[in-house]
Amino acid sequence: MKINENMGFATKQIHAGKEKNAAGALCTPIYQTSTFEFDTVEQGGARFAGEEEGYIYTRLGNPTTTAMEKTIAALEHGEAALAAASGMGAITATLWTLLSAGDEIVADETLYGCTFSLMSSRLPKFGVKVRFVDMSDTANLRDALSDKTKIVYFETPCNPNLKIIDIKEVARIAHDYNSDIQVIVDNTFATPYLQKPLDLGADIVVHSVTKYLNGHGDVIAGVVVGKADFISECMMCGIKDMTGAVMSPFNAFLITRGLKTLDIRMERHCANAMKIARFLHDHPAVEKVYYPGLEDFEGYEIAKKQMKLPGAMMSIELKGGRERVGAALNKLKLATIAVSLGNCETLVEHPATMTHFPYSAEELKEAGISEGLVRINVGLEDPDDVIADFKAVFDELI
Ligand SMILES: Cc1ncc(COP(=O)(O)O)c(C=O)c1O
Repeated sequence: MKINENMGFATKQIHAGKEKNAAGALCTPIYQTSTFEFDTVEQGGARFAGEEEGYIYTRLGNPTTTAMEKTIAALEHGEAALAAASGMGAITATLWTLLSAGDEIVADETLYGCTFSLMSSRLPKFGVKVRFVDMSDTANLRDALSDKTKIVYFETPCNPNLKIIDIKEVARIAHDYNSDIQVIVDNTFATPYLQKPLDLGADIVVHSVTKYLNGHGDVIAGVVVGKADFISECMMCGIKDMTGAVMSPFNAFLITRGLKTLDIRMERHCANAMKIARFLHDHPAVEKVYYPGLEDFEGYEIAKKQMKLPGAMMSIELKGGRERVGAALNKLKLATIAVSLGNCETLVEHPATMTHFPYSAEELKEAGISEGLVRINVGLEDPDDVIADFKAVFDELI
């Protein structure tokens, strides 16, 4: 099926990237192979030299994975995409490809815990300096840029406080300062259905595909999307030579299947989240709800401008200290205590104890992550059942 750029999101999520295969299978087959045969040594040589198209070895590419990469590139409006074994695999492959000792990164101070850990304690060992700023105030970004800045990196909405960063404004400031700066957005929380950072001026998008893109909680996966030249360099350098964090063809198959329903899943996730956010907003045991769809949320206007819908992630401040909050979450019957997000199930987690444990007490405070903060990933269950579950437990905290 020939897909063109003007076709709609739903058409692309189902058809983009699909190639005819020998057996005429409607779904892209799982090419579960580590290596590919050559007819002759000369043919092998031509493929290695890039003089002939074709596969060599699954760490360098695989037809099941290529199909999935093309679908995601089409959805993100990128020239190309590169699969990785995990979101962290995608992030590290991107950073290793771009950085050299002496370079600087300006990153938002609220990041997924392992990304924060990579930037705060691992990269400095290799001579890369990372300046953390609150990018929701773009004056902070302007002050942190220097001649050594190679990368501006952020998430929006941020994990876990849902802070919203103006993608267009950040990209404009960074590129006005130096057009070579690579603006990288982690689009995991929003997905390309809700937000397209490349259309707003970013250079590279990274994802934990583990989350909404796959949507069913059964794979760990990542992807990088950007210009074709960069993606090819990232494959040859970041994945092939440095991390080796390659995606399995079976996971690529599952992700392709999940992507076919991304739009309808996101619509329902967001509708459920809006209903649950309004309930929590009015509950007396809840001090604050961080949800980009609520009019009194700080990032509401920018979220409205750059996102189609406000997403299905939210955080709440519950009254009571760490122990009381923990005890309350332990009593939930339908919402499950687990990290991760983007599955069909509603999940709750306590960032200070779980996903953001690498942050020190001071860093938690700076990033706005309190002891009472609970992150909720609203799933696809009947929202009234989730509300009843929260109500039964949170009523006891009043
Ligand atoms: C925003 C964000 N980026 C990246 C990651 C890392 O992804 P993965 O767990 O697939 O390595 C996560 C994981 O939770 C995340 O929430």
